[in-house]
Amino acid sequence: MGYVFGMRSQNNPEEGWIRQIAVLKKYEGRGIAKTLQKLCIEAFKSMRGVRYVGLSVEPGNKPALCLYKSLGFKIAEGELGFETVTVNGKLAIKDYYGPGEHRFIMKKEL
Ligand SMILES: CC(C)(COP(=O)(O)OP(=O)(O)OC[C@H]1O[C@@H](n2cnc3c(N)ncnc32)[C@H](O)[C@@H]1OP(=O)(O)O)[C@@H](O)C(=O)NCCC(=O)NCCS
Repeated sequence: MGYVFGMRSQNNPEEGWIRQIAVLKKYEGRGIAKTLQKLCIEAFKSMRGVRYVGLSVEPGNKPALCLYKSLGFKIAEGELGFETVTVNGKLAIKDYYGPGEHRFIMKKEL
């Protein structure tokens, strides 16, 4: 029905990163992504030293943005070493996935 893929950051042990989450179209809107995301957050909480969870999201992906906001993720004020660009009044990482592919970085403290 769906999956979530998260990993502890290789260069920052305080950071858990949610890389992917998706739910099959016909199962959307049943709380599956929320449950998967919560399980992933709980897994990070159980790892000693992980202090926050991060992820990137396409600024136009409203369902994903709503999902993350509903779980307490907030758009980060940029990321060290990355150029930023303003999208919809918020700071996004410029060209994160290639030219024109800007992404918001969202974070949640554990
Ligand atoms: C984004 C996605 C994972 C949501 O999956 P889902 O199982 O339908 O989400 P849920 O039913 O768990 O919804 C959880 C929250 O997300 C929000 N949400 C989900 N779909 C939404 C939509 N179409 N519009 C607005 N908000 C939406 C709601 O705030 C909901 O919170 P609520 O239960 O308090 O109302 C799913 O639409 C998907 O797989 N999209 C394609 C892949 C993708 O974009 N992944 C994210 C990449 S960053």
